[in-house]
Amino acid sequence: MLCLGIETSCDETALALVENGRLTASILSSQADVHALFGGVVPELASREHARLIGPLYDALGLEGRAPDVVAFARGPGLLGSLLVGAGFAKALALGFGARIIGINHLHAHLLAAGLEEPLRFPALGLLVSGGHTHIYRIESPQRFILLGTTLDDAAGEAFDKVGKLLGLPYPAGRLIDELSRSGRVVSGMFRPPYIDNDNLNFSFSGLKTAASLYIEQHPELRQQSRNTSTAGQDTANFCASLNQVVAATLKVKFERAFQSEQGRGIRSFILAGGVAANSAVRMALRECADQAGLPLAVPSPGLCTDNGSMIAYTGWLLAKEGFAHDFGVSCIPRGTPIPDDLIRMTGTRAEENPS
Ligand code: KG4
Ligand code: ZN
Repeated sequence: MLCLGIETSCDETALALVENGRLTASILSSQADVHALFGGVVPELASREHARLIGPLYDALGLEGRAPDVVAFARGPGLLGSLLVGAGFAKALALGFGARIIGINHLHAHLLAAGLEEPLRFPALGLLVSGGHTHIYRIESPQRFILLGTTLDDAAGEAFDKVGKLLGLPYPAGRLIDELSRSGRVVSGMFRPPYIDNDNLNFSFSGLKTAASLYIEQHPELRQQSRNTSTAGQDTANFCASLNQVVAATLKVKFERAFQSEQGRGIRSFILAGGVAANSAVRMALRECADQAGLPLAVPSPGLCTDNGSMIAYTGWLLAKEGFAHDFGVSCIPRGTPIPDDLIRMTGTRAEENPS
């Protein structure tokens, strides 16, 4: 079974092909440079860029006349205008090819992406840390995710990006903060893990962002005069190492708490995913959790951690393999709105059996 996946939820336009569980083609164009000028993603520009890029990327993907059995697209959460570009393109292709259509939960796809590189063992405990989300899930199977904890305000990646902006780093700053942290040392007491003195599984990073911005205000020398991070001083590196460490420590506390809770019962593996899963301190913290629990930890390689089409194509393939699809009315869901559990179990393999 061949699944074409389309990702347009934020500022990456990406397509990929997964055949019988294997990634056979993948193409991506990042709009990061366009949005860097504004210090964050501009939704109107993002959808226009997706509309401009998606056709040429599809041509370059290398389908070479083959017809996909399934077309999967990221249906949300994301920027609605951007999602609609991918959804419209996907539906047109599926109609043209007579393929099934599946709208994919972008967050679930981030976590399942690890399955392209190693077998996933369910039930799994998943930590999704990206620019927009910080979620802990109990994952029963590719189609059954139970949300255990989430952020009450900023996501971990958002905190990195906002603090990075105050440091004068270009958007998105998470990767640069991580890079700078490598030549720094953690200054004890600079930051305290936020929102851990409670008994829940949620996160709150806005207090940490405020603490970091106050620190930068008191130490203006930390601000970078140029976008070139190689000129950063030792104090900036130490600041970044301390920020990295406190974010990782916070994630670890809540993840361990989830594992020890009732919802951690029978867990057979851990999964770490999302853009912030590329962070060295976060990876190390989750590795420690896995070693202590004696469980395998699946972390996608860096290219699969940030937004990509492969995770959409793979999730589409997983769901289609189990007989799931959507009808052509499948909608796009903006950030903050729950994604309905509206998959339909099909009997055949092609859209001829599709009820719409
Ligand atoms: O998953 P993703 O590509 O996009 C979504 O938000 O869905 O994640 C992007 C986020 C950005 O906030 C970026 O700064 C962060 O991931 N990020 C990192 C690193 N690499 C990317 N944050 C910390 N350390 C990194 N190495
Ligand atoms: Zn994402």
